Amino acid sequence: MAARVLLTGGTGYIGSHTYVALVEAGYHVVLLDDFSNSSPDVLNQLEIITGVPTRFHRADVSDANAIRPIFAAYDFDAVVHCAARKSVPQSLARPKMFFDANIASLLALMRVMAGHGVKTMVYSSSATVYGQPESLPIPEHAPLSYTSPYGLSKIMGEQFLNQQVRTSAGWVVGTLRYFNPAGAHPSALIGEAPVHDGGNLMPLIAKVARGVVPALDIYGHDYGTPDGTGIRDYVHVCDLAQGHVQSLDRLLRHRRSHTLNLGRGSGYSVLEVVKAYEAASGCRIPYRLLPRRPGDVAASFADPTMAARVIGFCATRDLHDMCRSSWAWETARQSDLQGALISPPYRPLGLIAAAPSVIVTPIARPS
Ligand code: UFG
Repeated sequence: MAARVLLTGGTGYIGSHTYVALVEAGYHVVLLDDFSNSSPDVLNQLEIITGVPTRFHRADVSDANAIRPIFAAYDFDAVVHCAARKSVPQSLARPKMFFDANIASLLALMRVMAGHGVKTMVYSSSATVYGQPESLPIPEHAPLSYTSPYGLSKIMGEQFLNQQVRTSAGWVVGTLRYFNPAGAHPSALIGEAPVHDGGNLMPLIAKVARGVVPALDIYGHDYGTPDGTGIRDYVHVCDLAQGHVQSLDRLLRHRRSHTLNLGRGSGYSVLEVVKAYEAASGCRIPYRLLPRRPGDVAASFADPTMAARVIGFCATRDLHDMCRSSWAWETARQSDLQGALISPPYRPLGLIAAAPSVIVTPIARPS
């Protein structure tokens, strides 16, 4: 029988793409989100893409009383925990909010999971746990450090989970350290659409390409990199989503925990991303060179060998695919906002032919 999975942060950028990959892999998935950084519209899009009615609950993961009844209603085999805040600049401005969102919610979730005998989790971590890397590419055994409260929250999250695995029989965790997710689903129906600007490069470049803002601010042009701008390991969000499926498959089959880098193993500078986006969109991206941004590192890219060996992870889509799919999503979204019909080239294989209806199952909160 297919495993039942709770996916937190399910309407967010990573969560929505992971949902599609999990459903396509045959998992029964229940989505949880509080729409603090996503839109309810995503639920309709997920039905169109997968052809499967969406099971969704609106709740804040840190509210144990709200999520307990959801665990009581379904017999979950595992949780994929994507719900978190992730913006480095926001975490520097409001550290407490980050600890509440990333740590309090993880602890509440672990408590409720333990209470319902659910002991399998795929955890969204981040390359931010490597702080200022000592050498490149970065292997999983590299020392951990942080340059922002966000980074600290992810290190603490990993450590709570390691402790749980060591001290509680039966717990297994797949910790996935994402590098820089980019791009969108080939349907152009879902993509990166943060409610709050997280300061990430690709959505900001897209805004410049669309003419919403006049120029991109490039933070730092005096790093010790070939063109002086920061280098990151951009990885297509659909490759990342597949990594979650592979991690979960392995946890459920082998009952052994793992901590893995999800990246491509090579980096691109900010200026290289700008050029690739210009090529994909046909739009010019004007930019201004500004001083470095607090909390940023010069260069970061993964050693992905362990992820390939342990779960068979292999990122197949390149920077061009990321820019092209991001631009397709941005233009489709813009047409939608302007009231035009979206006619993506993608055709869902699922069963839903007519307009989808989202199933929002009400779960009574205990009084
Ligand atoms: N950048 C600019 N201008 C911008 C935004 C970004 O020049 O307006 C530059 C940054 O300085 C950096 C690069 O683009 O060199 C990438 O910046 P992002 O904000 O897109 O990504 P970060 O590497 O700072 O952070 C991302 C995620 C984090 C995660 C980290 C892991 O946002 O959640 O990758 O490496 F922790």
